[in-house]
Amino acid sequence: MGSSEPPLTHRIRSFVMRAGRMTPAQERGWQDGFPRFGLTLQAGQLDWDQAFGFAGQRVVEIGFGMGDSLLQMAQADPAAQFIGIEVHRPGVGRLLSQLLVAETRNLRVYAEDAVEVMEQCLAPNTVDAIHIFFPDPWHKKRHHKRRLIQPRLVHNLATLLRADGYLHLATDWVPYAEHMFEVLDGEPLLVSAAGEPATAVPRPDYRPPTKFEARGERLGHVVQDLIYRRRR
Ligand SMILES: C[S@@+](CC[C@H](N)C(=O)[O-])C[C@H]1O[C@@H](n2cnc3c(N)ncnc32)[C@H](O)[C@@H]1O
Repeated sequence: MGSSEPPLTHRIRSFVMRAGRMTPAQERGWQDGFPRFGLTLQAGQLDWDQAFGFAGQRVVEIGFGMGDSLLQMAQADPAAQFIGIEVHRPGVGRLLSQLLVAETRNLRVYAEDAVEVMEQCLAPNTVDAIHIFFPDPWHKKRHHKRRLIQPRLVHNLATLLRADGYLHLATDWVPYAEHMFEVLDGEPLLVSAAGEPATAVPRPDYRPPTKFEARGERLGHVVQDLIYRRRR
């Protein structure tokens, strides 16, 4: 962690830990799945190729929720390495329980704050894609400081990307999309994949609709996908 960063204990978090009971299947996921598919902060810097046992494109998803769309993406691209990061323990348990059944070789999971994973486990210039789909919008103005997408976090994410690697965000909340464009346009390491001026892009085929997105669509919300590339 750089010396200008506040200590982790003083940091404003982008999530509130919800107490939620786990189903027996989610409990089993934790018990049997975490030792096989789980990654920990304590293990320090991640050696991707060693963790997976093969080399491949590297994709990180932050805030995968219940994990259904992440699992679909990993299964659709078995030659790539996928890392999911999520703090919601029932969601992690669900994904782990599905991994036990699916025997997917190319997906590993951190049950941690992504900010800490980024700082302690991921090295600069090593990631091909970072996905953040439907981060909590934190609607109220006094909560905007909790939004995950902030200039410093985006800068740190951009440094993790290899040249031409990309950051893909999606949201169903128009004011959050406006904020995202402002933050991404302000990051010198990134350039919009849609050209100038930056606009939303149609949902790429590789991104399955997510659970949270379906909820937004039921409410009549407009979904926007934003893709920015790391400059060479
Ligand atoms: C609104 S949900 C969207 C979930 C999923 N991507 C979807 O579209 O269905 C946002 C998720 O991000 C997770 N989250 C928020 N901040 C996080 C952080 N700093 N690290 C890891 N996960 C985080 C929350 O726990 C929550 O599950």
